[in-house]
Amino acid sequence: MIDLDDIAAITRQDPGGMMALTVGFPEQSEKGVEIGKAFETPAGWPTGPQAYRNVVVTGLGGSAIGGDFLRSVTEHEALTPILVNRDYDLPGFVGEGSLVIAVSYSGNTEETLSAYEQAKARGARVLVLTSGGALLERAKADGNPALVVPGGQPPRASSGFTFFPVWEAVQRLGIIGDKSADTKEALDLMFRQREAFKPESPTSGNSAKQLAKALAGKLPVIYGSQGFRGAIAYRWHTQFNENAKIHTFSGAFPEMNHNEILGWINASKQANDWAVVMIRDRKDTTKITTRVDATKRLIGGNVPIHDVYADGESALARLWTGVYYGDFVSVYLALAWGEDPTVIPSIDALKAELAKVQ
Ligand code: F6R
Repeated sequence: MIDLDDIAAITRQDPGGMMALTVGFPEQSEKGVEIGKAFETPAGWPTGPQAYRNVVVTGLGGSAIGGDFLRSVTEHEALTPILVNRDYDLPGFVGEGSLVIAVSYSGNTEETLSAYEQAKARGARVLVLTSGGALLERAKADGNPALVVPGGQPPRASSGFTFFPVWEAVQRLGIIGDKSADTKEALDLMFRQREAFKPESPTSGNSAKQLAKALAGKLPVIYGSQGFRGAIAYRWHTQFNENAKIHTFSGAFPEMNHNEILGWINASKQANDWAVVMIRDRKDTTKITTRVDATKRLIGGNVPIHDVYADGESALARLWTGVYYGDFVSVYLALAWGEDPTVIPSIDALKAELAKVQ
């Protein structure tokens, strides 16, 4: 395993600069907020907490995860159902009165382009977020509003661009209330986290490096304590897949207490070297805290279990501190596994093959 304190070794193993993008993430998020603040409600579009029958964020992979963040962080407030769609087809209920937010960082993901066409054909209002590609061309040709973000990065390293402009736009559309204070808190805390987690911060005081070292060579299972912590756990999962190129599983309380908890009975016969990460929150309810603690005891003593706590007051800040922590861990984990965190050969190969099929 490379020495995670050796900056030159990190740079050699990360030629695509995933670490630099991760370090620059708070600035990217600030820019994302600015882009969103410039959004103007198109003429004739309704505004208000119940102006739309439903809001559907449609996208895939790194462009869909911002939809999970939006849905889960607003679930106690939003009066309009907010859903995430990850497929060619939109649900049957999407039509006139719906707001469809089509997110594709590249602008060329075929499932998202298909969903965009369906939204248009069914008379939904359509807002696009992209850095360019066919999606931007179509939005322009159709006269649909577009949140245009800088391109040229891996989508999964661009969630500051794919989440925050949408976050600002839904505030301007009145679907949720003003969240300026929460946004500021989330950004401030990410700037602070960056100092603790960046490569120049030695392992002795850098919990992201410590956790990556502890997870290297293991099969990690990540559980979120409830609600948006489940979305954090899923983000860790997909970042471990794409950056470190490893399998991982994720789930959330309370649901995992009703099925997945039993999988631990035979886990050691299925594979060696499991490790668990519990994404927790000091604002978890007593019931949830009790569930997490009891589950840790029931999983058993021979699986290492690491507690990670989201930080902050607002749900948004706690969401993003959990996500940003995991982004650093995923890049260190890639380096610990000897992987180049940026390349995604199997996704590229599949997209190339599918591009040949009409
Ligand atoms: C790559 C990544 C992928 C893409 C997905 C969709 O970094 O995160 O999961 O996000 O293949 O592509 P886009 O985001 O361009 O629509």
